Amino acid sequence: MRVLIVGSGGREHAIAASVAKSPRVHKIYCAPGNAGIGQIAECVPIGAMEFERLTAFAKQEQIDLTIIGMDDPLVGGVVDAFEAEGLRVFGPRKNAAILEGSKAFSKDLMKKYHIPTAAYENFDDANSALAYLETARFPIVLKADGLALGKGVLICNTLEQAKEGVRSIMLDKQFGTAGNRMVIEEFMTGREVSVLSYVDGKTIKTMTSAQDHKRAQDGDQGLNTGGMGTFSPSPFYTAEVDAFCQKHIYQATVDAMAAEGREFKGIIFFGLMLTDEGPRVLEYNARFGDPEAQVVLPRMKNDIVEVMEACIDGRLDTVDLEFEDNAAVCVVLASDGYPVRYDKGFAIRGLEKFDGREDCYCFHAGTKLDADGRFVTNGGRVLGVTAKGADLREARANAYAAAEWIDFDNKYMRHDIGKAIDEM
Ligand code: AMP
Ligand code: GLY
Repeated sequence: MRVLIVGSGGREHAIAASVAKSPRVHKIYCAPGNAGIGQIAECVPIGAMEFERLTAFAKQEQIDLTIIGMDDPLVGGVVDAFEAEGLRVFGPRKNAAILEGSKAFSKDLMKKYHIPTAAYENFDDANSALAYLETARFPIVLKADGLALGKGVLICNTLEQAKEGVRSIMLDKQFGTAGNRMVIEEFMTGREVSVLSYVDGKTIKTMTSAQDHKRAQDGDQGLNTGGMGTFSPSPFYTAEVDAFCQKHIYQATVDAMAAEGREFKGIIFFGLMLTDEGPRVLEYNARFGDPEAQVVLPRMKNDIVEVMEACIDGRLDTVDLEFEDNAAVCVVLASDGYPVRYDKGFAIRGLEKFDGREDCYCFHAGTKLDADGRFVTNGGRVLGVTAKGADLREARANAYAAAEWIDFDNKYMRHDIGKAIDEM
């Protein structure tokens, strides 16, 4: 088979590494990819939003399966564009990717189908949002409706902060058109867990759990980022929590989408909060998490291509998902200054230490080759070092040991990824 992957981050590198393990695949392309992905796939300089060029490439190269890694093209309808050309593609259509693309849509869906989530109101104009705040309880959570690089959520402790937040989202358009509508919702407390799943329109099969660390600095301080590291499984995701979510959240979401005429095929990523009153949905994503994929996929025993084809063909009920009985930790090596301002173009040393290893991986996020063919930094998140271990403590020790093999100027990482497990 010939496979095309669309995207350019650590998540797409992890997907490519899984696809490369499939005995059925003999050629992988990635658009646009990055320098690390280029070691196992042929990178083609086509942007993820260039739908016409992507479908033309897939036809010309006789691609058997295209996998969309990123949210923007999914929400923009890339799957519809591929299907219109008769091409096989893994991911939700535009009318289903709205589950991630509009928070107001997903909140209304959960309310209509009694899926547990925070209480909320949706707003189309700033004045009614500001009026609503006068009677609200604090802290309160403001969310821009559309995609905002994971940054469109503001947690406000006071009325003044919240008013300022509404103005910046809806009037100043801090997150662009994502802020044409907004959700204001109840603040919840508890542990956060990410559960990713494969969906074929009717059947849903969940993967092993994971947890992300979104803040830039140790101790969950500093600004929100795309994710500074992950671990899998989450020790807080117990059999009891799983039973509740299987009964009230996962299948209910898939059935709700089908009932709305928005059959969902692809990945649903459930962002959950384990509150005192039970698990609640924080958010849905319509794709693998980044860097959740970097700890979940290396532990999956199945052939990823077979699972994805089963989703496309509506026969996921015949697949048994299997995960290794171990743990994985991913530590993101970033450029100092991320997520605000950082320099790029520094040489990366030590990558060869990962060659041929099965217990640890160095997934590239922001790298490129310079004119001399050397790997250099090319983004805020540069690399994701993932290691496995018999349990989380061992995986964490292994990941931090491997993170030391890599060296580049302005290298920055958190030192407490997976530390929550020490509190157990
Ligand atoms: P989201 O992009 O919706 O996942 O939100 C980003 C982050 O904001 C989440 O990972 C939570 O840490 C936090 N958050 C979102 N919604 C709430 C809520 N209702 N209560 C408390 N924290 C929240
Ligand atoms: N790591 C969070 C996300 O991918 O949305």
